[in-house]
Amino acid sequence: MNNPTESLHTIFDRAFSGVDRAVGAFAPRMAPREVGTVTSVSVGTAKVAGLPGVGFDELVKFPGGVYGIAFNVDADQIGVVLLGDCRHLHAGDEVERTGRVMDVPVGAGLIGRVIDPLGAPLDGRGPVASTERLPIERPAPPIMNRARVSVPLQTGLLVVDALIPIGRGQRELILGDRQTGKSAIAIDTIVNQHDQNVLCVYCAIGQRASSVAKVVAALRARGAMEYTVVVVVEGNDPPGLAYIAPYAATSIAEHFMEAGRDVLIVYDDLTHHARAYRELSLLLRRPPGREAFPGDIFYIHSRLLERATHLGADFGGGSLTALPVIETEAQDISAYVPTNLISITDGQIYLSPTLFELGTLPAVDVGKSVSRVGGQAQRPAYRAVAGDLKLAYAQFAELEAFAKFGTRLDEHTRAVIDHGQRVRAVLKQAEFEPASVAEQVLVLVALTGRLLDRVPLDKVRDAGRALRTAAAGLPAAVRQRFSSDDELGAEDRRTLLEVATRAVAPFQPPPAPGAEGRS
Ligand SMILES: Nc1ncnc2c1ncn2[C@@H]1O[C@H](COP(=O)(O)OP(=O)(O)OP(=O)(O)O)[C@@H](O)[C@H]1O
Ligand SMILES: [Mg+2]
Repeated sequence: MNNPTESLHTIFDRAFSGVDRAVGAFAPRMAPREVGTVTSVSVGTAKVAGLPGVGFDELVKFPGGVYGIAFNVDADQIGVVLLGDCRHLHAGDEVERTGRVMDVPVGAGLIGRVIDPLGAPLDGRGPVASTERLPIERPAPPIMNRARVSVPLQTGLLVVDALIPIGRGQRELILGDRQTGKSAIAIDTIVNQHDQNVLCVYCAIGQRASSVAKVVAALRARGAMEYTVVVVVEGNDPPGLAYIAPYAATSIAEHFMEAGRDVLIVYDDLTHHARAYRELSLLLRRPPGREAFPGDIFYIHSRLLERATHLGADFGGGSLTALPVIETEAQDISAYVPTNLISITDGQIYLSPTLFELGTLPAVDVGKSVSRVGGQAQRPAYRAVAGDLKLAYAQFAELEAFAKFGTRLDEHTRAVIDHGQRVRAVLKQAEFEPASVAEQVLVLVALTGRLLDRVPLDKVRDAGRALRTAAAGLPAAVRQRFSSDDELGAEDRRTLLEVATRAVAPFQPPPAPGAEGRS
């Protein structure tokens, strides 16, 4: 009897439970979207109103896929630095919040690639393979996670490794006027890492596209791209991209460091970076200070370079060595940005246009260059042969300037100058001819053993080359001392001196009465 009612109940039950299920399974596809409007656009920057919740450094999205970073956050409007082409943007365009900060792809897939600071490939070799991303601005490792700088970073340049040694995890500034060989030192250092198990990141900021192309070709030709990432912003890219480039490159390098690797990063150069930042700050109406740079110009570089360090063994033991490059004008190292960087870094390599013109290349002015980590960054065996060469060389440079006045020189002064001239000749090095540690040691042994003092000055470079060739014949046991923390034994010293003496002998004139070997 109640069969029809029951079936009606079942039908209703089924229908309602079906509706319930459908309601339960329905997830609204709506997400809150905060949208503001562009009020004005100028080259590289824009003002946006109607985004009151936006955070400092937050990424915002403009039409056409152009991103920007919220830079000035005021109550009623924000100043945005644009990371793409601004020509198609208009006042009134919609701007969307993204709720995240700027990040870059990181990881092994980037090695060998040339990319822009957003991680887009510039080398025509397809998309960049990467599964991980890191924010471009990251806090520097805390003090307690850091270890002492103790392992050398060989540049392969005798004048640097012997006189201004750089350690892994150190920050060493390369500064000098334009066209004095600043980039050459950095590139040579990258090329020299081929057998040092060091990954490299070369960040080119604001250079001519042709210069960057030349650098990449040179690195590729020498096999250096196999362990290098190149991050490029060209001179005609938006200033916002130039501003973020070094931070993005550092995040790429840090990822390797945190995996326990030794990494070298070159910023070439931070003068262009500082100028891009000044341009953006002035466009956003931040108050200008000295040389029209904004008040936080020191902070933008100190927070960048603080990220370079040597991590303690508990944190993987990786290291990030930074070689920032700065261009001076008319040799003025006391201009605002160069002095800031000198005080932030652990030393500087100063390149002199005068030495460059005289053909003393690399044109390192040893007197004005310093490495505050110094001998700690040399292996004990290397330190033993390099000795106090820097002091002797600096004394020579002073005496030589004095001797130019034509004063009659006593025997001792003459000897110091003769020796110094030979040191200078032997420290000369062409581009892309990095010297291995064994080669450097043999040259230093010949110098400190005064073997070259009897070689005529015009033959010194040849003698230097012969010494470098002879290094291949050094016993493996002796070579091993230079890549470990072993001291140099008396026996090793004898072997080194013997090999060096044999290599130099053909360049020394036979001892004859009156022939002192001076040129
Ligand atoms: N050790 C060297 N031996 C021979 N030539 C060198 C050496 N170092 C640099 N050069 C040459 O000097 C010129 C300037 O070098 P480089 O481009 O490195 O200078 P820079 O200071 O980086 O210049 P810029 O100010 O344009 O960036 C280049 O033509 C380079 O080939
Ligand atoms: Mg350069």
